[in-house]
Amino acid sequence: MDFEQAWLSYRKRTDDTNRQYFAAVYGEFEEPVMNTAFLEIERAAAEMLEVKTERKTAVPEPGATGIWLKTDPEEALSEEGYHICEKDGLVVIAAGGVRGILYGSFVCIRYLQTGRTLRGAELRENPSNPLRILNHWDNMDGSIERGYSGKSFFFRDQEVLINERTVAYARLAASVGINGVVINNVNVRGNATRLIEEPYASKVAEMAKIFADYGIRLFLSLNFAAPMELGGFDTADPLDEKVRGWWKEKMGEVFNRIPNLGGFLVKADSEGRPGPFTYGRDHADGANMLAEAVKPYGGIIIWRCFVYNCQQDWRDYKTDRARSGYDNFASLDGRFLDNVILQVKNGPMDFQVREPVHPLFGGMKETNQILEVQIAQEYTGQQRHVCYLIPMFREILAFRTYCSETEDTVADIVSGRTWGNKLCGMAAVANTGDDVNWTGHDMAAANLYGFGRLSFQTDLTAEEIAEEWIVCTFGDDSEVREKILKILMMSWPAYEKYNAPLGIGWMVNPNFHYGPSVDGYEYSRWGTYHRADHEGLGVDRSDRGTGYAMQYNEPNASLYNDLDSCPDELKLFFHHVPYTYRLRSGKTVLQHIYDTHFEGVADAEKMKELWQSLEGKVPERIYRRALERLEHQVWHAAEWRDQINSYFFRKTGIGDEQGREIY
Ligand code: GCU
Repeated sequence: MDFEQAWLSYRKRTDDTNRQYFAAVYGEFEEPVMNTAFLEIERAAAEMLEVKTERKTAVPEPGATGIWLKTDPEEALSEEGYHICEKDGLVVIAAGGVRGILYGSFVCIRYLQTGRTLRGAELRENPSNPLRILNHWDNMDGSIERGYSGKSFFFRDQEVLINERTVAYARLAASVGINGVVINNVNVRGNATRLIEEPYASKVAEMAKIFADYGIRLFLSLNFAAPMELGGFDTADPLDEKVRGWWKEKMGEVFNRIPNLGGFLVKADSEGRPGPFTYGRDHADGANMLAEAVKPYGGIIIWRCFVYNCQQDWRDYKTDRARSGYDNFASLDGRFLDNVILQVKNGPMDFQVREPVHPLFGGMKETNQILEVQIAQEYTGQQRHVCYLIPMFREILAFRTYCSETEDTVADIVSGRTWGNKLCGMAAVANTGDDVNWTGHDMAAANLYGFGRLSFQTDLTAEEIAEEWIVCTFGDDSEVREKILKILMMSWPAYEKYNAPLGIGWMVNPNFHYGPSVDGYEYSRWGTYHRADHEGLGVDRSDRGTGYAMQYNEPNASLYNDLDSCPDELKLFFHHVPYTYRLRSGKTVLQHIYDTHFEGVADAEKMKELWQSLEGKVPERIYRRALERLEHQVWHAAEWRDQINSYFFRKTGIGDEQGREIY
């Protein structure tokens, strides 16, 4: 099987200080996750230290050395929390439950990978978010919707795939704290609707078992119209008794077949998918019907809020796609059953390089919420451009919603701190495929690693996460570490610079979402407009326009509503302004567009140079793979620059103050 181990590709270490710990592991290993923890420590010890680990199913004697894996209800730890403490040669990993043991074990392994000694270690961690989920948009024919790193390793030719890669994937995910995985695309069509039935269900159960050994629960995306497609009904009305009965029976069957099933993810009434609106019902009716059916089995329903009118007329200035999530869901607050979680994209549009935070965060007080981000780089360079997204996610998590006096950030809300809920967390649309390096661009693996680490510990900085990933992946040469860190940290700002300006988004080629096309979405039905004319551009979402800004709590509503106080980076998202309008930076909008586009290309060149200076210091195959993409990125960034700059030069007739070339 042709794949690498990403950040778990262990390299030999000479450090002696950790050897004594890895020589023996104490614990009770009948429980499968405990056993996994042992096997992972054993493998790390063999590969990094060439030490053979002894398995000791006993409590260590006084004076014993090694690692002691111990679930401990006395510790102030959640089921997934761990406490690592080294004393006199014994490392105790105490945890609230077996998953905490596994996470603690991976932390100790990371000590080895990053060349730190466990001597004197004292570390206590409870995960920030209860749910830390990857959403795979994999289809049963093996394709991946918005997949940029090969084909699916979950499905091929309408079959469920199970092989070494399944285990390798579970290891990678668990090593960064992922505890839930949705294996199929949210757009559930064809045979994917049948994953809840035989013959597929037994195969899914096999996969679920592999995941369970790594503390991961498997979820499926569900087709709301399954009662029609599988049950032969002429309706999927959530208030119809026959439909409700069908779901109850079906859920009984499927939870019976797949013991480690966490529940379901549902995309309803969205981009052509069926949903409750067809029957004049709302989304609480739809979600609650399913929640009731899965409740007896401890199942949860994750219901997406990506609901908008995708048949809009571009001439219509009143309808605003940005408003739709809030308009469809905010008034349903308090109506969802407690095993329903609403999954809300980070922004109101669709994973653009810059968007304001979705107003449903802080807009609902009695509803479980999950933050959905996208590490598949659909709009951020499709894993051909390097774009490290963790700094963006950090900003989103830190956003104050003003829904309460304290603990009102997005991080507070989705961790459960604000309202005390237990079912909440973070989900990412995954960026993996069957490419040898999992993520196409080698540097895109930093987003996979980073999402896991950040969702486990939202107080980690983007730099800390990046450094960890670099050292685990490439070793601890300081030049390699510093330069790759620099590349990663400058990559999102660079991408933003050569893309659509000031938060307006969508200047991409329709469908593929790759490469510049300023008017590609301007006269379409998707609700994605920049409204540029010869005088100015931007969408008026203030109270004089679509009123979207007023969906925020104060003072955010006023901050965005007022042209001058609205932050520069979101100016065009909220306001239609003349090209001559002066930003808070002092530059006109037009000059800002020109300047940032020239800078963005210079940044791309700089990233390529930094990488080139690492030739011979990183493995040759990785060096070549990434270099090829960076070369493309430089060329493509220039294409973005020239198309966008020329577009606005032609609209305005005003040239660049610095006289640089515009076409
Ligand atoms: C975007 C993306 C689609 C996806 C959708 C979703 O619109 O382009 O491919 O299905 O988001 O999140 O459901």
